[in-house]
Amino acid sequence: MTQGRPLLNRRLTEFGTTIFAEMSALAARTGSINLGQGFPDTDGPEEIREAAVRALREGKGNQYPPGPGVPELRTAIAEHQQRFHGLVYDPDAEVLVTAGATEAIAAALLALVEPGDEVIALEPYYDSYAACVAMAGGTRVPVTLRPHGGAYGLDLDELRAAVTPRTRLILLNTPHNPTGTVLTREELAAVAALACERDLLVVTDEVYEHLVFEGEHLPLASFPGMRERTVTISSAGKTFSFTGWKVGWITASPELVTAVRSAKQYLTYVSAGPLQYAVADALRLPDTYFDALRADLRTKRDLLSDGLAAAGFGVYRPAGTYFVTTDIRPLGGGDDGFAFCRALPGRCGVVAIPNAVFYDHREEGAPFVRFAFCKRVEVLADAVARLGALTR
Ligand SMILES: Cc1ncc(COP(=O)(O)O)c(C=O)c1O
Repeated sequence: MTQGRPLLNRRLTEFGTTIFAEMSALAARTGSINLGQGFPDTDGPEEIREAAVRALREGKGNQYPPGPGVPELRTAIAEHQQRFHGLVYDPDAEVLVTAGATEAIAAALLALVEPGDEVIALEPYYDSYAACVAMAGGTRVPVTLRPHGGAYGLDLDELRAAVTPRTRLILLNTPHNPTGTVLTREELAAVAALACERDLLVVTDEVYEHLVFEGEHLPLASFPGMRERTVTISSAGKTFSFTGWKVGWITASPELVTAVRSAKQYLTYVSAGPLQYAVADALRLPDTYFDALRADLRTKRDLLSDGLAAAGFGVYRPAGTYFVTTDIRPLGGGDDGFAFCRALPGRCGVVAIPNAVFYDHREEGAPFVRFAFCKRVEVLADAVARLGALTR
């Protein structure tokens, strides 16, 4: 405290240390397998690492790159949007490179939200959403995804009812972390129709666009009327297994890109020049790369999901992402996911994350716990063996 005031401003008081820091420290202290945080334990393609080394050596991007990102990467992003999604963007006016999707989310919200605006987000949500809405002075309005018949779904009536005259934008995420849900064509069409009818912007976080095991990823921007009101966010972290590189991007109309860039330029200005050249190469990898990534993660999803089911968890087998959400109630130890996750390292040497941290309505998430499966097969097999101890 100074001057009788807490140091942290009041917009951020509810955002103390993240659960990831607490659980990662617990994993290190107890020698547990850390299935808490979503980062792969093997690096992405060797040729892309080499491309980064080459860029460093050749002096490409070692000094401030252009504010919107290096032209090679912006062109590669535009080509990728066309190749995979049939969406045409102008690399000069409709693409902006950011420091990971995280900065893209922050810049989009800081640019587009006025104090007092309402932002609708699908709950449970990725933790930076709430903090960024708060930093922008907005009010978050959660719409809860609820489990039905083994998967989480969006209640379209609830979404519609959440829109008020103060709603500025919908913050969407598909494929969805932490539930693993991939929004369907019907759900996305309904979101699009609502956004058009109520004249709302949509910021859509599609960082798991290539990690879909069931169904297909459909970008919201491809729906009628959406291209000009949607900011699409993605990132190299998950698609190329380089989460530490923090190279992300947005694609949107020139007006939206200009607005988001106005905020972005005072956050980081620019990021990681040499890595941008390497990510440009990565986005042009052949289909076989993307297919193999998906197949590998599908195998890992099944290994961990089957193991968790055998250990007695209720399992929501994800259609996409790195994560599987489980219900701890069938294990018979109650429904407090926080207590469960704090005790799990001591009980069997595995770390997971309580889904309640991703909710405003914490009670809705209380019995659910998230495990990451973006780890080597032998690590997952070991984790499954350890989790088996819960029922012995
Ligand atoms: C839904 C979602 N959005 C954004 C991010 C962050 O992406 P980046 O590492 O590119 O900032 C993550 C990382 O876990 C995520 O799960």
